[in-house]
Amino acid sequence: MSQPLHIVILAAGEGTRMKSAKAKMLQSLGGQPLLTHLLETAMTLKPEGIHVVVGAGSEAVRDACASYEVDWVQQEERLGTGHAVMQAMPRVPDGATVLVLLGDTPLIPTDLLHVMVDEYRAPLALLTMELDDPHGYGRILRDPGGNIIGVIEHRDAEPHQHAIREVNTGIIMADSERLRGWLGRIDCDNANGEYYLPDVFSLARAENGEIQGILAPDASDLQGANDRAQLARLERRLQQRRAAGLMAEGAQLIDPARIDIRGRVEVGRDVLIDVNVVLEGDVHLGDEVMIGPGAVLKDCDLAAGTRVLAYSVMEGVTTTGACDIGPFARLRPGTELSAGCRVGNFVETKNARLGEDSKASHLSYLGDSEIGSGVNIGAGTITCNYDGANKYRTVIEDGAFIGSDTQLVAPVTVGRNATVGAGTTVTRDAPADALTVSRSRQTTIEGWKRPTKDR
Ligand code: UD1
Ligand code: CA
Repeated sequence: MSQPLHIVILAAGEGTRMKSAKAKMLQSLGGQPLLTHLLETAMTLKPEGIHVVVGAGSEAVRDACASYEVDWVQQEERLGTGHAVMQAMPRVPDGATVLVLLGDTPLIPTDLLHVMVDEYRAPLALLTMELDDPHGYGRILRDPGGNIIGVIEHRDAEPHQHAIREVNTGIIMADSERLRGWLGRIDCDNANGEYYLPDVFSLARAENGEIQGILAPDASDLQGANDRAQLARLERRLQQRRAAGLMAEGAQLIDPARIDIRGRVEVGRDVLIDVNVVLEGDVHLGDEVMIGPGAVLKDCDLAAGTRVLAYSVMEGVTTTGACDIGPFARLRPGTELSAGCRVGNFVETKNARLGEDSKASHLSYLGDSEIGSGVNIGAGTITCNYDGANKYRTVIEDGAFIGSDTQLVAPVTVGRNATVGAGTTVTRDAPADALTVSRSRQTTIEGWKRPTKDR
């Protein structure tokens, strides 16, 4: 295709059937606003311009898509798909090719669009699909020779036309001057009183132009997103694709139907992901990383050999070597674990760095902490990092041993190889190589009797 490409995306729909306070284009699909899927697909075609037609209440849509370079076109009144394309045409020069996409069809596969653009024959082409239940769609009309002669909307069709299973996907390509001419001639004389984009087909045909039909191989990629049930089906479709992508990269998914990817995931060799794992944001999993069942990871970068056991919830975590996490660990942003670390069940960390071979195996809170290597944190250790107004750091140097049920009242430092006795409340620095303990001495009262109930 030699002419410059301009993409027009129709996205002025209100999405009434979602019954939502949010615009349809902002409904979440795969963890991102619906419209962003089409924008990303459109960008792979490297067009000269992407013109997005939006309607009332579009500010939120523009804000949510602010990071994309698009030309926003306002359609003040929703007068039909033909009218919507007309609003964008002043931004499209003559001598260009226009590709119209529907905000309605967010998961159109990139490779299908590339085929369409490569095989496009001027002046007009449309993408069709075959449906077992074509109800509601515009039907493709062909003459006895098989040439496309028009599209008839479901509401305007005769009963015998309802049997036609080949339908309009709504995705068309056309030469810009010709399209401008046809759009200037369409009217709203139909069951909906709208300016229909598909009316350009009969106008083109009347000029004896050939209309190229491209049949999409798989209609399930072109399903609409009109209500919650359809949105859920699209979500499954997208997740299937993302799971297939991860497997193609070499990841072992125990069940590709039971993983949810809501962001970008990169995997090394022999990564294993068990069932019901949710991955969000940017997740990088090094070679032989294992993610146990039910784990939720957001924006994590895990070094080769890291094992995340069942039901751990992690956000903003980096491991710089193989370590063991969970089950039931809660690692919050700013957690950095070095090789050989172990953070076990019911341990919460935040802004905490653990050096090599340090362990917090059970029931602890480590916040705003700098922990050296070879440190053992006993069960029930709590860093008291917050005084209700400010946060303070706890430093635990290499080789220290923190006994169970210790409170470290920050700011405080535990020196190298120091030992803190179980049950200690550390309020001042604990010196290196020594035992620090704050605990009242144990006494035994001989012959003491338990109270008994009064009769
Ligand atoms: C449209 C086609 C139909 C096709 C179907 C495929 C028309 C008249 N019919 O029907 O042939 O089979 O798509 O899904 O084109 N929009 C605007 N402004 C408007 C009207 C619509 O931006 O004034 C946008 C909508 O947000 C939506 C898209 O255009 O993304 C399609 O509009 P919709 O009303 O859903 O058309 P359908 O009745 O589904
Ligand atoms: Ca629709």
